[in-house]
Amino acid sequence: MARRPTPPPERLRELAAGFRIHGDVLGVEPYGSGHINDTFCVRVEQAGAPLRYVLQRLNTDIFRDPAAVMANIARVTEHLAAQLRREGVRDASRRALTLVPARDGALWRNEPDGAWRCYLFIERARTWDAIESPAQAAAAARAFAEFQRRLADLPPPPLADTIPGFHDTPRRFFALQAAIQADPHRRAAEAAPEIEFARARAQIVDRLERARAEGRLPLRVTHNDTKLNNVMLDDATGEGVCVIDLDTVMPGLVHYDFGDMCRTATRPTPEDETDLARVRMRRDMYEALVRGYLEGGAGFLTDAEVELLAFSARLITFEIGIRFLTDFLEGDAYFKTRRPGHNLDRCRVQFAMVRSFEENEDWMQQMTREAWVRAREAHR
Ligand SMILES: Nc1ncnc2c1ncn2[C@@H]1O[C@H](COP(=O)(O)OP(=O)(O)O)[C@@H](O)[C@H]1O
Ligand SMILES: [Mg+2]
Repeated sequence: MARRPTPPPERLRELAAGFRIHGDVLGVEPYGSGHINDTFCVRVEQAGAPLRYVLQRLNTDIFRDPAAVMANIARVTEHLAAQLRREGVRDASRRALTLVPARDGALWRNEPDGAWRCYLFIERARTWDAIESPAQAAAAARAFAEFQRRLADLPPPPLADTIPGFHDTPRRFFALQAAIQADPHRRAAEAAPEIEFARARAQIVDRLERARAEGRLPLRVTHNDTKLNNVMLDDATGEGVCVIDLDTVMPGLVHYDFGDMCRTATRPTPEDETDLARVRMRRDMYEALVRGYLEGGAGFLTDAEVELLAFSARLITFEIGIRFLTDFLEGDAYFKTRRPGHNLDRCRVQFAMVRSFEENEDWMQQMTREAWVRAREAHR
């Protein structure tokens, strides 16, 4: 995917002027380290007081229907704001993203150089690209749980499914089987152990989807990109302040969010580590995640949902693993690679994590149950 060129300064000022920003624009500069959208900071002086805004260009290669994405975001941010006010939260405008409408009142601007939107800048907080401590993991997990909790009563209709089948593991598994069958690049032999690993786990792929279809798990509003760098943590206290990056907010199972948190936050290595002996889940991180998550989720999560949380770590990690494996077999068509076999290396890391989650399964389940008892007692 070709990156769009950064617009020149005059153009960025013009774009900023397209939104209801009150005051004098001092400058617009690239900001942050997101990999999907193009993010800019708009510095403003408002009647003598300094203020900042976030101006963002949506990546329309990935999000092909920006109107649907923005309609979802508007409903979610308005509901969060109303909920925060109901709860009497003092700094509500810092606890959820707030869209700044365009001059004409629209939620976003469709321009020749992209789809643009503007948010209030969340001050005195920052995102972290790598998890540094269990305390950060707990703070992030709690923030994602509170996010889900405040959206659990979003009135109908359901949000638009902007990436259909995003966590449809059975569908991902069928895609892998098709890629093995076709083997268009004659790579299946090289990946024989990984193919075997995947096939041996065929019976787990529909466990969450089946529970949902049978009405045992409710469809919620989920974030779907629960990396640590999508939560702003307070500069002073380290507490989770605001969940950001709402492009993938959709109907889903809470397990998609929790499982992906475990996948990314309990792994001590990069995603393409080649020394697989180093790739194993960190128990201290899982404990922090599940505690934080259940503290934030007490009051809305059901016992049936909690019972499958530990499993979700294994399933979502397996799902990403089979996506890397499928892409390797299909000639690296989807994920960008920097070396031959890069996707196979990534697959091996995910599968090593799956194995580690399997080995720790009883401990994880026990830890989850204990944390749930404690969180419910604290909530009463
Ligand atoms: N409202 C905001 N206030 C302050 N910083 C923000 C805000 N929105 C985004 N950022 C910063 O910009 C970075 C990228 O934004 P994000 O929405 O996560 O884009 P991407 O989809 O590219 O990851 C974030 O990691 C964060 O540091
Ligand atoms: Mg992000």
